Amino acid sequence: MILERQIDVVNKIKISDSFGRTFKTLRVSLINTCNLACAYCVDPSASPIPKGGRDNASKLSPLGVGDYIKIISALNNLLEFDTIRLTGGEPLLYKQLVPLVKGISNLGIPTLKMTSNGTLLDNKAHDLKNAGINSINISLDAVDPDISYKINQRKNLQKVLNGIDNAIAAGINIKINCVVMKGYNDNHIIDILEYCKQRNISIRFLELMEMGHLHQNFDELFFSEKDILNCISSHYQLTALKRKPNATANYWKTDDGYTFGIISNVSNPFCNDCNRLRLDSYGNIYGCLSDNSPISIIDCIDNEQQLLNKLMKALSQKKQKFSGSKLSMMHIGG
Ligand code: 5AD
Repeated sequence: MILERQIDVVNKIKISDSFGRTFKTLRVSLINTCNLACAYCVDPSASPIPKGGRDNASKLSPLGVGDYIKIISALNNLLEFDTIRLTGGEPLLYKQLVPLVKGISNLGIPTLKMTSNGTLLDNKAHDLKNAGINSINISLDAVDPDISYKINQRKNLQKVLNGIDNAIAAGINIKINCVVMKGYNDNHIIDILEYCKQRNISIRFLELMEMGHLHQNFDELFFSEKDILNCISSHYQLTALKRKPNATANYWKTDDGYTFGIISNVSNPFCNDCNRLRLDSYGNIYGCLSDNSPISIIDCIDNEQQLLNKLMKALSQKKQKFSGSKLSMMHIGG
């Protein structure tokens, strides 16, 4: 793979690989733990999360607000990000989330987004909006309490739905992510589509990705884009919309004018124009979701040349096709 480093007329450094891929979006994992135990992240046969264990969440966040701001600012000086996305684990478990959002907003990066399970959003939505969050992707795999419990092992569906309502009321742009798993929620696709359609909320269905423990029984659980479309087209006539560059989802319109998306990383890998860089909660960067090798940048934040070398290394991690990962989204963030 040929990596290129160019200095353009305004003396800004640009890095790109032979596919023209670079880093324009930074996904920042704030904590590698979650208050849910969704079947796609946590092996259902593994030992349960101890009661009250998540109260210790702040001890599990090695980086403080100042550390994150310093790292993000140094990376942004080199790469001029379009977007920062805060993820986890569950980013709302990070105790200093609101000050962190304010600090990142002050860096002047155009868009600040978050991916959350929504369980702790209801009373934080206004503060997050005021601090500078533009949009939140909320994981909602079911709108039926029993199906929701079967997937995430917690009884908090109503809290999530309240979180969605409050975020919308606060003026935050919301998108729903729904991971479809055979035997869990594949019979529930229309119900969840209708829930979102009635409220005019945007939904994307996600094909399951082979991450973490899922390699054990991936084929049994996998429900493809084609399966999802078959299911929805038995209720609606669908028109495919044109895919935007760097987009993770393909979109369709129903005959009554509602648009939904499918993120199909298995059926339609979108690695060719991937512009994402990931930072974990220990100060390691990753250039690709399929690569588990952390690249620590903690010690070279003040050294532009060293930081650039590490970014080139991260860029060389990018694959042409998602090939699975030992890490679950709980560590590396979606
Ligand atoms: N496959 C597909 N989606 C996943 N997510 C987490 N793990 C997986 C997986 N193995 C989803 C979360 C979140 C989004 C960023 O990714 O539900 O909404």
